Parts: sequence; structure tokens; C-alpha cells
Amino acid sequence: MHRGKGMKFVGDSRVPEKSNRNIPKDYSAFPGRTEAFWPNFLLKEWLVGAVFLIGFLCLVAYAPSPLEQQADPNNASYIPLPDWYFLFLYELLKYKYAAADYVVFGTVIIPGLAFGALLLAPFLDKGPERKPTRRPISTGLMLLGIAATIWLTYESVAAVDWEEREQYSIENAVQVEIDEEDPGYAVFEDNCMSCHGGDLNGVPDVGPSLIGIPHGVDAIKDIAVNGIGDMPAGQFEGSDEELTQLAEFIVSVNEKAKEQEDGGGH
Ligand code: HEC
Repeated sequence: MHRGKGMKFVGDSRVPEKSNRNIPKDYSAFPGRTEAFWPNFLLKEWLVGAVFLIGFLCLVAYAPSPLEQQADPNNASYIPLPDWYFLFLYELLKYKYAAADYVVFGTVIIPGLAFGALLLAPFLDKGPERKPTRRPISTGLMLLGIAATIWLTYESVAAVDWEEREQYSIENAVQVEIDEEDPGYAVFEDNCMSCHGGDLNGVPDVGPSLIGIPHGVDAIKDIAVNGIGDMPAGQFEGSDEELTQLAEFIVSVNEKAKEQEDGGGH
């Protein structure tokens, strides 16, 4: 009898089976199912891209992104804030070594290194390994980047006083047409605008809005001279006539705002 004849060979668990599962077959194994990159494949890619792009355009035209109103240089009370996808860069600039004297780090060097590394990744990391765990440096840097981005975005959102922002938002600012010909306006401009804003809507952290205040002419005259609460005395400098013009101007703006509110019905 020959050795092994009539015997069945079974797999030996000590010898690992060599697996070919992850190696794709050569395209020559699929006759008729492969195609030239140029122009066939590229044309198909382009078609799919065009369909996607047109679909996206339709979506944007149908539901425009919620942008804020146009910037208004007269509205000193507006608090600008970048859109959410830039908040992490914005937050970065609040750190000591990324701001003021070191602002080049925050604006150019750190973002430049991060995005430059992302761009150069295919050239810097040429190892054949595909498993993330086998590429600890790239994987680590990527995770670090993601964690930093999420953390900075979170910090930035947490630091915003959303109520104040709402109060000073362009949409909620009371837009009263200011009569710049009014003699009181010039007095306001010289004495009060720096703290109360060009359209009387206030300046965040500096002075409150003067629209919707209950004071009459005499009370405003008194405040302009003697101050009130956090507003120091002696803000007004000028003649009695100018003081009256100023107070009458502020009252007239308030009357207009009230009319608008009542007339508008909302
Ligand atoms: C240095 C900044 C500053 C300047 C300049 C200034 N104010 Fe004020 N003003 C304030 C602050 C701050 C308050 C809030 C005071 C408080 O409530 O503690 C205030 C409050 C007021 C109020 C009361 C508002 C309310 O809700 O009752 C009036 C009225 C007013 N200012 C008028 C004026 C006029 C008129 C001038 C120009 C002569 C002027 N202010 C200049 C900072 C300023």
C-alpha cells in the first residue's frame, strides 16, 4: 500500500491557511467588464458629479442657507461670530500663545501645519499598512486633530452669551430711521455715540440701547450731565441749548420707535 492511499487529508490547524481573500483579482479576470480610464471612466465620473452638483444647486436654491443680514457699519452693537465650521479657528485665537504678540502662530503657523500635514499626508506616510492600528503616528495625529477641533468648537460655543447675542442681533435691533439733520444728532454723535451706538441700539459691554427707555426730556438731560449707575457723570459737554436739543432728539427717536411698534402691529 502506498503511503496515504485511501486516507483523507484534513486541514492541520497548526499550519495557517494562506488567505487570498483581500487581494483583488486582476482586471484581466473580468473580460468585457473593465474599461479605459480616458475617456470612458472619466466621462461617467463627470456625469455623476454633474448630477450631484445640479441636485445640490437645486437644494440650495430651494432652501437657502440661513445667512445673517447684510453688514451695517452703523450698527456698533452687532457681535460678529464666524459660522460653526470656523469656530475652532476663532477659539484658537483666544489662547495666549496664539493671540496678540503671538498671533502669527494662531493665524498662520498652527493652522498651516495642521492643514499642510493633511495635504502632505500621502507623501509623508507611505507605509503599505492599511489598518489604522498599524499606522499609529498618522492615526494618532488625526485623532488629536479631530479631538482638538471638537473641543475648540465646544469651548467657543460655550463662551458665547447667546441671550446677549440675540438681544443685539441685527434682526432684533430696533431699526428706527435716525434723522441725521436733527441738531440733537450732532450733539449725540459728539457726546454719546461711542457708548450708545450710532443708531442708539447700544454697544455690547459698553452702553445700553437708548431705544425704549421711559425717560422724558428733563430726565435725559439730568442723566447726560450727572450720569446714572455705571454711566459716569460729565459725559455731556456743551451749551444748555445743545443739551435740550440732545434730549429732545433722543425722545423723538423713542417716539418714532414706539409708533413703529404700535403701527407695525408686531
Ligand atoms: C462712557 C460711556 C457712556 C457715554 C459716553 C454715555 N453713556 Fe449713557 N450710559 C452708559 C452706561 C454704561 C449706562 C447704563 C447705566 C446703568 O444702568 O448702570 C448708560 C445709561 C444711560 C441712560 C439710561 C438708560 C436707561 O435704560 O435708563 C441714558 C438716558 C443715557 N445713558 C444717556 C446718555 C447720553 C444722553 C449721553 C451723551 C451725553 C450718554 N448717555 C453718554 C454709558 C455711557
